[in-house]
Amino acid sequence: MSEAPSQAYVVSMTNLHATAASLAADGKGILAADESIKTMSARLAKVGVEGTETNRRDYRELLLTTPGLSQWVAGIILCDETLRQLTADGTPFPQRAAALGVQAGIKVDTGTTTLPFSDGETVTQGLDGLAERLAEYRELGATFAKWRAVLQPGASDRAFWANAHALARYAALCQDAGIVPIVEPEVLMDGGHPIEACQATTAAMLSATFSELDRAGVDPAGVVLKPNMVIAGTAASSQSTPKDVARQTVAVLRDKVPAQVPSIAFLSGGQSNERACANLAEINRQASQVGVPWRLTFSFGRALVDDALRTWAGQPGQVAQAQQALAANCSRASAAAQGRDEGVV
Ligand code: G3H
Repeated sequence: MSEAPSQAYVVSMTNLHATAASLAADGKGILAADESIKTMSARLAKVGVEGTETNRRDYRELLLTTPGLSQWVAGIILCDETLRQLTADGTPFPQRAAALGVQAGIKVDTGTTTLPFSDGETVTQGLDGLAERLAEYRELGATFAKWRAVLQPGASDRAFWANAHALARYAALCQDAGIVPIVEPEVLMDGGHPIEACQATTAAMLSATFSELDRAGVDPAGVVLKPNMVIAGTAASSQSTPKDVARQTVAVLRDKVPAQVPSIAFLSGGQSNERACANLAEINRQASQVGVPWRLTFSFGRALVDDALRTWAGQPGQVAQAQQALAANCSRASAAAQGRDEGVV
């Protein structure tokens, strides 16, 4: 017979359940602003801004301090550098976020490495020392974390299981530290594959993921799942309509995701805001017709921030306009999380 959990354990699991549910409550979603230093610097360079620590901070502060952000966004995912930075008024980012009504999250994986005995596939790394890092991140104010596994359409069994195992070990360490894990198994949109290939790979990866989460003792009621939408590749000759995306996505999720998971927050995967929101709205409409146990929302990166970054381009005089662009994109995403496609005005 298994031992009854201690009261402390029960209390901390209750908090995890509440936090996981809150990240997708009331039509809100999650803003992914956790690009690594290298990726963020490259994105800044594209709009003519030097990739310095200060410029990365100014850009993230612009995002976080967008007026009204907490109407649409329940959490913001940051990277290690930003979580430790101060905003211009001297407040640490996590505390500033909390004061603005937004929870701070932290990306804890350290990127991908080549998977041995595979055809160029990858496994995500970052487990070494993770327990210690999570304890520190919690002290700094993070309430949730993120780990991204990356799969090609048609990925091998070896890639599914290696990545699912790493996701499960990460998720268990997070819950043990009192932090909600965002579990992100991403099947990439790049390529000319049809929607069926994305559907098959997504289904197999979700199966492996929930099997490993269960074996690792992870409580599904204390996680947020961050999947890709099921969609044809960006270079496919036949592009998926919102109805196709919704039909295939809802079917895969109903088949593979336990009912206890409270929140599913989709990544955008390089879709425009307009397209990602049209798809999310239709996913919610079809999901409500069949009845699903989870809330379906967004955890978009590029589909929310690209317009703001382009508008700002490092010019202090453009901050307000860039924030308006972000607000418009977040507002549309929040409407889509409630089944409304507001298009682009
Ligand atoms: O890990 C991926 C990001 O958090 C989401 O980014 O919406 O640009 O794909 P994306």
